[in-house]
Amino acid sequence: MSLRVVIYGVGPIGQLITRAAYEKGFEIVGAIDIDPGKVGKDLGEVAGLGRALGVKIESDADKVLREGKPDVVLHSTGSFLDRVYPQLVKAIRVGSDVISTCETLAWPWYRYPELAELLDNYARNNDVTILGAGVNPGFVFDALPSVLSTTIIRLDRLTVVRSLDASKRRYSFQKKIGLGMSPEQFREALARGEITSHVGFAESVLLTASIMGLRLDKVEEDQEPVIADANYETQYFRISPGQVRGVIGHGSGFVNGKEVIRVELRACVGCEDYEEVRLEGEPSITWRSTGTPGDPATAAVIVNLAPRIINERPGLITLKDLINYAYTA
Ligand SMILES: NC(=O)c1ccc[n+]([C@@H]2O[C@H](COP(=O)([O-])OP(=O)(O)OC[C@H]3O[C@@H](n4cnc5c(N)ncnc54)[C@H](OP(=O)(O)O)[C@@H]3O)[C@@H](O)[C@H]2O)c1
Repeated sequence: MSLRVVIYGVGPIGQLITRAAYEKGFEIVGAIDIDPGKVGKDLGEVAGLGRALGVKIESDADKVLREGKPDVVLHSTGSFLDRVYPQLVKAIRVGSDVISTCETLAWPWYRYPELAELLDNYARNNDVTILGAGVNPGFVFDALPSVLSTTIIRLDRLTVVRSLDASKRRYSFQKKIGLGMSPEQFREALARGEITSHVGFAESVLLTASIMGLRLDKVEEDQEPVIADANYETQYFRISPGQVRGVIGHGSGFVNGKEVIRVELRACVGCEDYEEVRLEGEPSITWRSTGTPGDPATAAVIVNLAPRIINERPGLITLKDLINYAYTA
């Protein structure tokens, strides 16, 4: 059976999801976006498929969902559950499962406990499954170290470092980490919500702890700009000495006052691409990669999980429901 999907959000990530869904042979039955520059255009052309798909991008989500009757909505419009909540409700209302790149949906009880409960009840009542996933949260800081921890008998501390060259990422990523701003502009824009930088440190920490059965007594997160000491240039930004060339941020989870989980992101122009997962305990193991290409990897996670969630229980689920291979506290 071919999976019927609606693409909800046709930004850079939605475009990659479209290409991946096409590659997987999914039946794309609708596309939704509010950007006037995209509405009315063919999805295949906007997504850079090099051919028309016969699917027009429309702004009337209710109409697209009602007429398309998708099995799964592939959603990528925003990072914060309070803003995307009405969109998710529209999909649930027509009986469609949802998999979303919304970072705060990966562990929604942290920032939005009331909305999480509402969403869970609404999904159960409509017999649909809803999942927040992606590359981060959704893979590098949580799913990956969880699976890697399966060979550890006693875990004292988990550290994940993800370092990436921000110049290789999409425009919206480079913008949200404040490239080219002064440090003061960065801090003010972050405080005002004009840029988000990385969203989801705490969600990854809580997701990992939950998969492993660790009871955390405290979670912290923070991020700081990385300042350029030379000139840098990306496809979209020119950065002079003294301006922001990236961010370093982390999330930490504590048990009995001791940091047992630390996830750290170094996203800057000129940074090396790698991920390192350090598991300290019995035995101690370090895994290192040459880097996961974040944007296509996000699309891959979404389309690889989409056929799986249609068989999951109704309600708001997390990656914890899909990962059953991990260290157990
Ligand atoms: N979990 C992960 O690992 C992961 C990885 C990558 C990205 N993400 C997140 O996924 C989201 C999408 O990324 P992106 O770079 O493609 O973002 P983007 O550039 O902001 O694109 C989002 C698209 O959705 C549209 N949109 C916004 N509100 C909408 C609504 N109510 N109905 C329909 N369409 C709407 C936007 O239109 P306008 O431009 O007109 O607003 C835009 O075309 C971001 O929040 C990003 O942080 C998560």
